[in-house]
Amino acid sequence: MSLQLKVHAIRKAAPRVIEIDLRAAEGVALPAFTAGAHIDLTLGNGIERSYSLLNDPAETHRYVTGVLLDHESKGGSIWIHDKLKVGDVLTASEPINHFPLNEAGAHYILIAGGIGVTPLIAMAHRLNATEADYRFHYYARMRDEAAFAPEVEALAGTRLTMHCSGGDAAKRLDVATLLKERPSAAHVYVCGPLELIRAVREATPDWPKGSVHFELFHGDEAATAPRSTDQAFDVVLQKSGRTLHVPPDKKILDVLKAEGYKIKVLCTDGVCGTCKVKLLSGVADHRDEVLTDEEREKFIQVCVSRAMPGETLVLDL
Ligand code: FES
Repeated sequence: MSLQLKVHAIRKAAPRVIEIDLRAAEGVALPAFTAGAHIDLTLGNGIERSYSLLNDPAETHRYVTGVLLDHESKGGSIWIHDKLKVGDVLTASEPINHFPLNEAGAHYILIAGGIGVTPLIAMAHRLNATEADYRFHYYARMRDEAAFAPEVEALAGTRLTMHCSGGDAAKRLDVATLLKERPSAAHVYVCGPLELIRAVREATPDWPKGSVHFELFHGDEAATAPRSTDQAFDVVLQKSGRTLHVPPDKKILDVLKAEGYKIKVLCTDGVCGTCKVKLLSGVADHRDEVLTDEEREKFIQVCVSRAMPGETLVLDL
């Protein structure tokens, strides 16, 4: 069911970030959400974008999100910053959560990179409410540019460590050291750019399955977009016997969709695992962040991965 939400307030949360407070009609309770959830908003320019909720999940009268001004965006962020105003009504989905907090943990490590802090703020609210043990690591280039830093400080108190590199790569968050030892029954939640998610995944190869949780901040389209060196290749669809050509500037997913194939997708960034298709033969250039080496022999995430040069991929479609 879709919701009609009115923009109740907009405020600056950092030089390039605004906070948007969305509410239903007076006195109407909104569907509940859990920490890590997002809503899909249909913007005035007709495009749909997902935004993580950052307010306390115990609140039922509003959804609050933060939006970074990203000049490289495909229209969502710029439209919100330029056009959205208090009093506007937007169509929204009910809250959806692909990044839920596992409340059975004994210790939590929250790692935020830039605007990826938003779902982790909702998690800090929830962890405070349940009196859970946690640490909050917030990576930002400069303290002054870190969105919602005062809110995170107020929530996490001494559990917060700010990591400000000032643009110096040598001072970047050393995730490997941070995650060297796994406290008993600990869960790590990371949200931010692809580089940060990769660093966390590389630092936790021995952590038990289900204890490392990540969500890519969706300003990172460039990281998973086709590259200028990409080459064309063919995919053979085993069930239909068809061969489709994937040009250098298109993804397998784009080509399948254009041919009417309904592939379920969520992130389109290779991190959620939803668009997994059985790979019957051919050597793939795997660009996802979800499949294990073993799985990569049998599956491919069609939203990001391609064929290695000269290869034809045979898919179970
Ligand atoms: S849609 Fe999420 S991995 Fe492809």
